[in-house]
Amino acid sequence: MATILSVSGSPSATSRTARLLRHLDQRLVAQGHEVVPLDVRTLPPEALLHADFRHPAIAEATALFQRADGVVIGTPVYKAAYSGLLKALLDLLPQYALTGKTVLPLATGGTTAHVLAIDYALRPVLNSMGPAHITPGWFTLDKEITVGDDGALTVAPAAAEALAQVTDQFSRALDGRTTLLAATG
Ligand SMILES: Cc1cc2nc3c(=O)[nH]c(=O)nc-3n(C[C@H](O)[C@H](O)[C@H](O)COP(=O)(O)O)c2cc1C
Repeated sequence: MATILSVSGSPSATSRTARLLRHLDQRLVAQGHEVVPLDVRTLPPEALLHADFRHPAIAEATALFQRADGVVIGTPVYKAAYSGLLKALLDLLPQYALTGKTVLPLATGGTTAHVLAIDYALRPVLNSMGPAHITPGWFTLDKEITVGDDGALTVAPAAAEALAQVTDQFSRALDGRTTLLAATG
């Protein structure tokens, strides 16, 4: 079992990205992992905007990263890259906050023109923070995610299949890591 921090970087109160992550969290929990959700939008804006590293909420978020074996990073695509909100938090973390961790990058966006935003924008930032492994990510079009009046989430079948695959690959990578650590003491 691994501890996973599942981070949504959308500023939206009705975020599809966050809904998608919470949906995938359930899949990871069913596979035996402990999942801790973190919506960056719930952190104090003044701490994020004024780079207040010492703010208790930022210290707490930093501790969540430290404790995690794996991190899911989800962001809406804004202006062809990740959200500024996500970057504001990443900028406040220690340079190597992802050291030794397995990371799953996910994005949602409005156009396939930016389907590679994970690879050309998000992945280099995550790489600079020292992860052991960044597993293949997935970009989901916003129109493939619908939330019903009852709050139920529906993901278009092809996207749901792809998301299940990248989530399971991330989960297996974490299982392999846990087994290796147990074997080497
Ligand atoms: C300010 C803003 C900028 C956006 N820029 C892009 C963009 O450059 N490329 C893209 O594919 N989608 C863009 N979108 C669409 C969002 O990425 C998309 O709707 C996403 O699913 C929103 O996620 P959320 O509901 O979690 O906030 C933009 C949306 C907003 C509000």
